[in-house]
Amino acid sequence: MKALVLAGGSGSRLRPITYSFAKQLVPVANKPVLFYGLEAIADAGIREVGVVVGDTEAEIRAAVGDGSRFGLEVTYLRQDAPRGLAHAVLIAREFLGDDDFVMYLGDNFIVGGITELVDRFRRERPDAQIMLAKVSDPRAFGVAELDADGRVVALEEKPEHPKSDLALVGVYLFSPVVHEVVARLTPSRRGELEITDTIQGLIDRGRRVESTMVSGYWKDTGNVADMLEVNRLVLEGVEPSVAGEVDASSELIGRVVVEEGARVTGSRVVGPAVIGPGAVVRDSYIGPFTSIDRDCSVVDSEIEYSIVLRGASIDGVGRIECSLIGRQARVTPAPPVPRAHRLVLGDHSKVQISK
Ligand code: DAU
Repeated sequence: MKALVLAGGSGSRLRPITYSFAKQLVPVANKPVLFYGLEAIADAGIREVGVVVGDTEAEIRAAVGDGSRFGLEVTYLRQDAPRGLAHAVLIAREFLGDDDFVMYLGDNFIVGGITELVDRFRRERPDAQIMLAKVSDPRAFGVAELDADGRVVALEEKPEHPKSDLALVGVYLFSPVVHEVVARLTPSRRGELEITDTIQGLIDRGRRVESTMVSGYWKDTGNVADMLEVNRLVLEGVEPSVAGEVDASSELIGRVVVEEGARVTGSRVVGPAVIGPGAVVRDSYIGPFTSIDRDCSVVDSEIEYSIVLRGASIDGVGRIECSLIGRQARVTPAPPVPRAHRLVLGDHSKVQISK
């Protein structure tokens, strides 16, 4: 069995972070979300992985390399534009050959891995196996309709009027029969080759499509709120450890990781939280569910339930919550007069200012 990991696309809901950065590389507990997926694939005993890349190919390549550190052999497959999830299968035709494969969306996060799912597919060998999860707003997902016996009868991509609250999770298993359907697909009203239409095509041809409800936790990390929530969940499981320096006037409470080369002075860190290598935390409060990436500095400030990407600095600004702060961003106080906010914001930035 092979794996096809989708790491192209545009990441419009995570702008402006994704103007300069692949959305699959936004870190969760200081590790790119994509890496959790690659680890799950390796754990399931799969070695050969095709990674579909687009405009952010160089960054994805730099981060993942040849895959050997995950125990994987990675082949990069360039997609000229985000023409849909099934288009990614189309361009991977040669790489996939006549093997079964798991398709994994690089921005999906599943707790508990995919080993059970892959084993079940190997045992039962349907033509497709999908995972479903109940969601509160199915309009943002592919939605499955089941019959009275629980069999999938219809699928619809981001429907205006969803027929159920069952969203398609971004991990799918296919036998090579899928290529016959993909080869005959036409673009949807969104202009994409849809994976939902592909699975529908299998059903219409009388092929066996099995579904399971996702047993653990699943999130599509497409937007900031979901990113922060996944970060919270992963941090809840970290083991406390201190490899960096923490001075005597600082206090670490609960699950706190201070990585090598990090320096915490005159500060209080309430876990779960991670302070990345080379980061500086001085005279500050780091609250629960916060990830501070490598080489950041937090000085004379408070931050909680947030993700701070590498090299960012926060200095003398009071309290920050529920925030995603990009690489090398600078957050500083404004001069006292005139009393005004001074902003340099990238396109599509979002700022909430407390008055
Ligand atoms: O997360 C689950 C949902 O993922 C499913 O319920 C939907 O049926 C499915 O279409 C997908 O919806 P999204 O709107 O979340 O897909 P997104 O455009 O974010 O793409 C998912 C991943 O695939 C992401 O890592 C980018 C990558 N991608 C996407 C497209 C459209 C590609 O590599 N190439 C592409 O052409």
